[in-house]
Order: sequence, then structure tokens, then C-alpha cells
Amino acid sequence: RQQIALGDVNGHVEEMYAGHTVVKAYCGEADSIRAFEKYNDDLYDSGWKSQFLSGLMMPLMNFVGNFGYVVVCVVGAVLAMDGKIEFGVIVAFMMYIRLFTQPLSQFAQAFQNLQRCAAASERVFGFLEEPEMEDETGKQALLGASGKPVRGDVEFSHVKFGYDPSKTIINDFSASVKSGQKVAIVGPTGAGKTTMVNLLMRFYEISGGSIAIDGVDTKSVPRWNVHDQFSMVLQDTWVFRGTVRENIAYSKPGVTDKQIEDACKAVGLHHYIMSLPNGYDTVLDDKATLSQGQKQLLTIARAMVEDAPILILDEATSSVDTRTEELIQKAMDALTVDRTSFVIAHRLSTIRDADMILVMNHGDIVESGTHEELLAKGGFYADIYNSQFALTD
Ligand SMILES: Nc1ncnc2c1ncn2[C@@H]1O[C@H](COP(=O)(O)OP(=O)(O)OP(=O)(O)O)[C@@H](O)[C@H]1O
Ligand SMILES: [Mg+2]
Repeated sequence: RQQIALGDVNGHVEEMYAGHTVVKAYCGEADSIRAFEKYNDDLYDSGWKSQFLSGLMMPLMNFVGNFGYVVVCVVGAVLAMDGKIEFGVIVAFMMYIRLFTQPLSQFAQAFQNLQRCAAASERVFGFLEEPEMEDETGKQALLGASGKPVRGDVEFSHVKFGYDPSKTIINDFSASVKSGQKVAIVGPTGAGKTTMVNLLMRFYEISGGSIAIDGVDTKSVPRWNVHDQFSMVLQDTWVFRGTVRENIAYSKPGVTDKQIEDACKAVGLHHYIMSLPNGYDTVLDDKATLSQGQKQLLTIARAMVEDAPILILDEATSSVDTRTEELIQKAMDALTVDRTSFVIAHRLSTIRDADMILVMNHGDIVESGTHEELLAKGGFYADIYNSQFALTD
């Protein structure tokens, strides 16, 4: 009980600390404190009992041990006075008592440790019992092996998927992307755009159909080999504690300072970084130093430095102002030459020049084609487009 209560208290504190601006903004302090007090009382209660019981153990063992001496002395004295035993027998029994109680109190101590261990191991075993991912030790890396560059043809064929097996989100997704093409995926919120990207990267296993890169089914090669083919900028940015330089050259060996600076210049972050106290060696942490848009620029620079055959941008510029977005767009265009790229964007102005636009709704492609074709068709895409530009055009 103490272990569970401790987990509850820690979980609650962490959650409230992470979301404290929202808690304050909605005046949720009283609720939060009430919840904390409930968990804390529980911890107090179980902690008190467990400490009391384990505190009782040692005195109890001492009592049993010393009580033995008393019994031996009294009984021994009576028997010795009756002349039934020698004095030496009493001394011998004194020794026996000590030999007997020592392992007993050791056992009591071990038992306490065992109990604490059992409570903690419940969680460890819960974690270990989670289903394992498929073993991939037998698979050979094929993509980009033997120095042959990956072209970046991507073929989705009848892809079917649901995060929960009983609830399918992607029903039947098929698309064929040629090497070097810029593919835009558009669609309303919750249409399954990010899900498609997750499947392409093989973060999840599809339940039907296949996804192939350069004609190689991504299921037939190890996951790391698939991940190796992509640079990606995700919807939620991730900046870890480390210098700007480390953040940009993340996990890629042999990146030169010039490459890092060039990438930062391309996304327009160089000036800001130079104004930081230590320039590229300034230590960032998740909370301070960078605005949301600047974090996005940093993750784009990271993707530029990574320089993989296929590029994925999931709402990469959603928090950036339109002028900076245009700037990045230009840098991106230079970057995406000869590189297959998947771009997800809500601002349709950014994807007008895509070679292919896939319009998704409810997990299916409802339309596909170039910007002009789709507009001429006057369907779902034209609807979304016109709603964004009704005021400006
Ligand atoms: N990890 C997850 N577990 C279960 N369901 C999920 C998960 N991620 C997304 N979903 C569900 O899958 C559906 C599609 O989500 P997805 O993130 O692909 O949408 P999206 O098109 O990227 O939307 P947005 O434009 O808001 O980013 C949603 O209905 C969502 O509830
Ligand atoms: Mg998304």
C-alpha cells in the first residue's frame, strides 16, 4: 500500500507541476490540493502502519531473545538447586539461546527487505510483462546497404491500420510516390495524417497491406534501417538539455560546425543564436531560452543536417510567422531537390507547388492530384482551399 500511495503522490505532483499554468488559469488549485491531500493522507496512513510494524520487529526479536535467558536462568536455577543438573549445563544453554536467536533476528530483517522488494517488483514485472516487439535479429539491412544510395520511391498499397485493433483508422490507403517528388498530405484535423507518417516510419506495425521503399517492403528490414532513411520534423518539437550545437547535430556523427551554421542560416536562426550568451554552446533546456517557433526552426535545422533520402515535415512551420515560413520554404526547396519529401500542412499556401497532393478525410484518400487539377475538380480540396483564401483572393 505504501508503494502504491507513493506512486500516486509522485504522479500527481509531477502532473500538476507540468501543467501548473493551466491549473492556475482555470483556478484549479483547490481541486488539486484536495486531490493531493487525499493521496498524501493515504501515504501517511500506510507509511505510519508499515513503519510501526517494521519498527516493532527488532524489539520483539530482542524480547524473545532476552526472555529466553530469563527462562533458562530461572528453570536452570530451580533444577540446579534440586541437584538435577550441573551449573555448566545452565551456561551451555545460555550459549544455545544466543546461537538460536541470532539467525532468527537476521531472518526477521531479511523478511522486511523481502516485503519491500515484493512491493517494488510488482511494478517491474508489470513492465516486463508488456508484449515484446517482434524480434528482428535475423533480418538483414537492405536499404542503403553496400553503399548504394536509396532513391526514395515510396509505395503504399492497401494500408490498413488502427491504434486499437478493434477501431480501424486507416481503411485502405494506396499511393505511389516517385523518387524526388514532393508530396503534400492535407486534410482536416484528426484525418490520420500524422498516423500515416508514423506508419511510414514504422513506429507502428500495419495490420494489412504493405509499405515499400525502393520496392523493399519495410517489414522485411530492421526498424533502425527504415528510420535511417528519414529526416523528420514532428508536430511536437523536442529540444533536450544540451547545447544548441548538440541539439542540431543530434546523433549524427561527424557534423562540422559549418554545416550547423549553414543550416541555422537557412532557417534564419543564426542571428538569434549569435545573440545568446555562449552562441552555439549555449545550454538549452526544455522550458527556457527558445520560443515555440524558434524550437520548430531548430528542429528543421536538425533535419537539414541529418540529410537523409526521405524528408518528413509534419506541421513543421505551424508556429512560425508567415514571413519566416516563406524564408524556410526557400531553404526547404533547395533541400528537397532530388529528395522525396512528405509535407503535412494546414496552411495550403505552403504546398501549392507540390508534385502530388493527397487529400485525406477519415483515414482515406478522398482526392489526389496537383493543386491545379484539384482546384479544377471543385471537390473537397477546392472547398478547403477556398475557405482559406476567400478573404484574400
Ligand atoms: N497514439 C494514439 N493512440 C490512439 N489513437 C490515436 C493515437 N494518435 C492518434 N490517434 C487517433 O487517430 C486519429 C487520427 O489522428 P492523427 O494524429 O493521424 O490526425 P492528424 O490528421 O494528424 O490531425 P492533426 O491535423 O490534428 O495533426 C484521431 O482520431 C486520433 O484520435
Ligand atoms: Mg497531426
